[in-house]
Amino acid sequence: MILSIESSCDDSSIAITRIKDSKLLFHKKISQEIDHSKYGGVVPELAARLHAIALPNILEECKEYFKELKAIAVTNEPGLSVTLVEGVCMAKALSISLDIPLLPINHLKGHIYSLFIDKPTVIFPMLVLLVSGGHTQLLHVKSYDYIEVLATTLDDSFGESFDKVAKMLGLGYPGGPVVEQSALNGDEKKFDFTVPLLRTPKLAFSYSGLKNQVRLAIQKSPEFKNDICASFQHIATKHLTHKLKKVLQSQSFDDFAIVGGASANKYLRAEIQSICDINKMELHVADMQFCSDNAAMIGRCAVDAYELKRFSSLDDININPRTSF
Ligand code: KG4
Ligand code: ZN
Repeated sequence: MILSIESSCDDSSIAITRIKDSKLLFHKKISQEIDHSKYGGVVPELAARLHAIALPNILEECKEYFKELKAIAVTNEPGLSVTLVEGVCMAKALSISLDIPLLPINHLKGHIYSLFIDKPTVIFPMLVLLVSGGHTQLLHVKSYDYIEVLATTLDDSFGESFDKVAKMLGLGYPGGPVVEQSALNGDEKKFDFTVPLLRTPKLAFSYSGLKNQVRLAIQKSPEFKNDICASFQHIATKHLTHKLKKVLQSQSFDDFAIVGGASANKYLRAEIQSICDINKMELHVADMQFCSDNAAMIGRCAVDAYELKRFSSLDDININPRTSF
């Protein structure tokens, strides 16, 4: 079995995954959303202190598995440096005391593996849209090691733009679920926001301009909160689907997936589903509980890392806050 630890942002989570069939045997996550919501975003130093309390408490609950562990997996990149350190320190201590190796895991790769939790096999190659709080990327995932970035964001991410719109409207943090909820009661055609990078053939994403359009709309018509959310969500999603269609003009795929915290968005899922239907691609999404950050996805990714012997020594495991693919 592998014990995995996730602490890259504001979720403290530990999982136990069985190596032979990738079965998830234990999983617990303690979210800090309430603690950060009054600040309108994650406060790194507070997040680190809360991990230092939550992680040992979760660990206590899975002590019964310790004697069967073969490796300790931990998210070491990307994320907030002060919170990554909490998980990596705990992983090193466990590795020393249990005398088993360490597996450093890339958090973004973990999100891709959220699709295969509790599943013994993976589906590669696959076209993957990663939409999280820190990243918006279109990826051609060929294998564990070979991930080609087809498009990435030039500024803000998709999820982050929801957080910023929610903050401007005073709706709280995290913004994704509240903006999606508010949009259900709004008219997506009420505000005529422009789709970012519409006239450039460049395969890239950008959300800072749209955020500014929303800011101006709020200044002018603050009473239309639901319509602003609906119009923003509509255009933010249209931007993604526009670039996705561009990729599909020159390449074809059998399998497509949306992963990351914002993949929980039902409007986005529905829009992508219709593109998949037209292009005869099967759409894969993670179980709702595993869209946002969790250690189960890190554990599933670690099973493949274990088979590939991607172990790291105590001194070689580094924190990389800003790595991508
Ligand atoms: O993957 P994740 O849990 O953390 C990172 O690795 O960043 O993603 C969190 C992001 C936040 O920006 C949150 O607002 C966004 O995912 N999110 C959503 C929804 N649920 C979470 N964005 C849009 N719609 C949602 N329903
Ligand atoms: Zn994440």
